[in-house]
Amino acid sequence: MTAHKTILRALAGETLETPPIWMMRQAGRYLPEYKATRAEAGDFLSLCYNSDLATEVTLQPIRRYGFDAAILFADILLVPQALGADLWFVTGEGPRLSTITNEAGFKALKPASDIHETLNPIYQTVRNLAAALPKETTLIGFAGAPWTVATYMIAGQGTPDQGPAHALKAENKDLFEALLERLTEATIEYLSAQIEAGAECVKLFDSWAGSLKGEDFDNYATAPAKRIIAELKARHGDIPIIAFPRQAGDKYIGFHEKTGADCVALDDSVSPEWGAANVQTSGCVQGNLASRHMVTGGDDLVRETRHIVDAFKNGPHIFNLGHGITPDADPDNVQLMIDTVRGG
Ligand code: CP3
Repeated sequence: MTAHKTILRALAGETLETPPIWMMRQAGRYLPEYKATRAEAGDFLSLCYNSDLATEVTLQPIRRYGFDAAILFADILLVPQALGADLWFVTGEGPRLSTITNEAGFKALKPASDIHETLNPIYQTVRNLAAALPKETTLIGFAGAPWTVATYMIAGQGTPDQGPAHALKAENKDLFEALLERLTEATIEYLSAQIEAGAECVKLFDSWAGSLKGEDFDNYATAPAKRIIAELKARHGDIPIIAFPRQAGDKYIGFHEKTGADCVALDDSVSPEWGAANVQTSGCVQGNLASRHMVTGGDDLVRETRHIVDAFKNGPHIFNLGHGITPDADPDNVQLMIDTVRGG
């Protein structure tokens, strides 16, 4: 039934002549049509919770470029909000949350099974998309990984080094681990509901995995991913799962085996040759063009895109950026990347 979907074929381990392609943050501020819909919604969170408008912005890059996958339009920080944290976005700066730094803050959080009341509009967006997407386009759901989401909940905002989360881990390990446990349960609930609503694949974003070293990486990046993946596969058969332990470096090696992920997404701090030799040998990989090429374009973009396609050509590969596209990107450069991947 789904054999014609190239993303699902790559996720199943097939080596395709032309790698399928989508792009992190493909619905975003570099697109004039996104900015128009966001203005109509008022603010970013209103856009996330408005199923009709969230459906519209998810479809915009599919219409414009014909990407092989659509990613649900939402945000990783909706889960803390659904657990009871306050969340708001400061224009030009980023997210702000009420912080969890002590037992009282943790005790005020809702149980994982209570998140659906807040997140129901997101599941409606998934249902809308499942009905509206072209038959060849794969619908990807997503959530933040527990560690990455915890870094925002503990600091109350994004931080360059995730210092407050590392400090809590050192000072009150029980509380830190209880928070990760609650987030692990909530992530399973959330992704499970997205799959029931029609997501054909889910991706776990561990954007700050790179700041976990040694055993911390094993305990707080690998172990939660393994548990989430095992539970989703137990509930939903062989639902394909992409894991993105960003900037994991050497820890990318064996991540497929250790977590059960069908695909490991690589950021652009590793070379495609290294990824092919050390990670693609274990299964499908996704990545890993540096986002800056979407700003700078030209011959460098074409050369680096071909380099990545060539390096990964002997195994299952989904073409993507190494991280999200930035608001200053030129939409024409996205077209040039796609043409280069598809046209050689
Ligand atoms: O990829 C997609 O197109 C799907 C939607 C999506 C968004 N955020 C929309 C968004 C996804 C998958 C995310 C994931 C996300 N959100 C991550 C993990 C991936 C990563 O980039 O590392 C993180 C860390 C967040 C938290 C977050 N959301 C931050 C730090 C910010 C502010 C930074 C920024 O780019 O403004 C956001 C806001 C956000 N999430 C925007 C979008 C399109 C921009 C909001 C706007 O329109 O103003």
